[in-house]
Amino acid sequence: MIKVEGLTRVYGSFTAVDDISFTCRPGTVTGFLGPNGAGKTTTMRVMVGLTPATRGDVTIGGLHFHDIPNPGRHVGVLLDASAQHAGRTGREVLTLGAQTMGLPMSRVDEMLELVSLDETESRRRIRNYSLGMRQRLGIAHALLGDPSVLILDEPANGLDPAGIRWMRGLLKGYADRGGTVLLSSHLLHEVEQIADEMLLIGRGKIVARGSKAELLANAGGAGTLVTALDHDQLTGALTDRGLSFVPVADGIRVDAQPVDVGRLAAERSIVLTELRTASGGLEDLFLELTADTQRDDVSAAPAPEGASL
Ligand SMILES: Nc1ncnc2c1ncn2[C@@H]1O[C@H](COP(=O)(O)OP(=O)(O)O)[C@@H](O)[C@H]1O
Ligand SMILES: [Mg+2]
Repeated sequence: MIKVEGLTRVYGSFTAVDDISFTCRPGTVTGFLGPNGAGKTTTMRVMVGLTPATRGDVTIGGLHFHDIPNPGRHVGVLLDASAQHAGRTGREVLTLGAQTMGLPMSRVDEMLELVSLDETESRRRIRNYSLGMRQRLGIAHALLGDPSVLILDEPANGLDPAGIRWMRGLLKGYADRGGTVLLSSHLLHEVEQIADEMLLIGRGKIVARGSKAELLANAGGAGTLVTALDHDQLTGALTDRGLSFVPVADGIRVDAQPVDVGRLAAERSIVLTELRTASGGLEDLFLELTADTQRDDVSAAPAPEGASL
């Protein structure tokens, strides 16, 4: 269990992390989501004792990170995948880690296999690794000591879609076996499918938290995407009911919950061909909640593939 209480980190006159509190429970994946510069890395660095907190407290299993004996056996950490020693090979990094933690050398090969780094790749120097390979190595290093807690900062960075899917399965399985995972990302679609709980951070503050369903419910209705055999009949019924809607490329987007649209259609015997939470509901919420902290012009960027709910 990770417990963060009133954590604040100030740099000069700038508050990078502003009085945040949360807990991460065993058996769950917590997604720590926010735009670049929101304070995710700073929070995680404080959690693992790399940066002192200005105020507040972080404990992992009741202890401060520095007081955990042989911490790698309890907490797996991946902060900055490019921070690994560039002159060492992947195998050397894992071997050193295994020696430090007092693990059998067989663990090195197990981890290499787990993250699909083959024999040749494992003997290459890290400076010649792609970002995706570095992330895989970083994940292998984090898991080396078979810890019960994982703290991963943007681990999906540089992974291709297949790699992201692989990581999703890995972390889900890890949490299902009772592990605690805190996983940060600046991309909603990377975490929304695995995170049991989400923490949205913007400008150093937690701006929203909860499960995906809770976040959408608190957003006051996520909207519904609906298609019908007879669209005119459907839009007529929506107008009668006073529901606002807009035609979109793949149907009609309604400002109401799917259940309300479904009920209305049933009352009027309208045949629906599709009914679901409108894609972009959570994406919109994320952008809205963190809007004043955006540094990148996301509106100009094409939507990433697989970004739909
Ligand atoms: N060592 C530092 N000195 C001054 N400012 C910092 C330092 N580290 C981070 N910051 C600032 O704190 C803010 C949060 O950064 P960071 O935690 O890296 O955000 P994120 O990981 O969410 O992108 C940023 O504005 C960043 O410039
Ligand atoms: Mg960061």
